Amino acid sequence: MVAVGVAASTRLPAGDRRAIVARGLSKRFRKGDVRALAGVDFHADSGSMTAVVGPSGSGKSTLLYALSGLIELDAGTVEIDGVTPASAADWVRLRSRHIGMVFQDDWLLNRLSAAENVELPMIGVERSARARRARVQELLTRVNAGHFGDRMPAGLSGGERQRIAIARSLANRPKVMLADEPTGELDSANSRAIVELLADLRAREGLTVVIVTHEDGIAAGCDRRFVLEDGRGRFVDRGG
Ligand SMILES: Nc1ncnc2c1ncn2[C@@H]1O[C@H](COP(=O)(O)OP(=O)(O)O)[C@@H](O)[C@H]1O
Ligand SMILES: [Mg+2]
Repeated sequence: MVAVGVAASTRLPAGDRRAIVARGLSKRFRKGDVRALAGVDFHADSGSMTAVVGPSGSGKSTLLYALSGLIELDAGTVEIDGVTPASAADWVRLRSRHIGMVFQDDWLLNRLSAAENVELPMIGVERSARARRARVQELLTRVNAGHFGDRMPAGLSGGERQRIAIARSLANRPKVMLADEPTGELDSANSRAIVELLADLRAREGLTVVIVTHEDGIAAGCDRRFVLEDGRGRFVDRGG
C-alpha cells in the first residue's frame, strides 16, 4: 500500500506557540560604558504584531540585533520558532531562512536591479533559477512593485525602495520579521502603505512581526506594545 498525505505540516496555527522567546538579554557596550540592554525579557506569539517603542538610545535597535543574533550578548537566551541557536553558523542559517530583517535605511545594492536585490538572499538557498525568478515576481507583486522590478534602486522613491527591501526580507519565507523603524524616512502616505503591507503579511501568512517605531499610529495598530527605557523593557496594554 502507498501512504498518502504524510506530509502533514508540523506548523501550529497562529497563537498556538511562541515564535520568539528571549530571556535576560544583557548587553553593555564598553565604548561609552553603556548598558544598552539590562536584563530584557521579550516574547512574541506566532502570527502576532508587536511594536517596540521607547526614546532614542533606549536599546530598541540593540534588542532587534540581539533577536537576530547580530550582536554578542553578555547574558541571555533567544529562541526563534522553537530553535535556540548554539553557534554563529546556527544563527546564519536561522537568519537566512527564518528571519526577515528590514531597516530604516533599505540597504539595497545600487548596482543590482530591484528584482535582483530581491533574488539575492535566495542564491544558495533555492537552487533552481526558474523557481527563484518565479518567487521574485510573486514577491514584487505582493509589495505592489510588480511593474518596476527591472528598475535600478537609484531611480526609485523612498517608499518604493522600502517595498523592495521588504520583498527581499521575505525571499526565503521567514517566520519572523524584525523591522527597525522601517518607515522612519517615509512620508505618512508611504509609511501607512508599508504598515498595511506588514499587517497583511501577518494576516495572510502568519508572519510574526516585531516593529520598532516612533509613530503612535503604527504602535496602535499592533497587538502589543513593548516599551524600552534605559535598557529595561516591559509590555504595556494598549492605551496603558
Ligand atoms: N556599537 C555600539 N557601540 C557603543 N555604544 C552603542 C553601540 N550601539 C548602541 N550603543 C549605545 O547603546 C544604547 C542603545 O542604543 P540603540 O539600541 O541603538 O538605541 P535605540 O535604537 O533605542 O535608539 C545607546 O546609548 C547607544 O549609544
Ligand atoms: Mg535604533
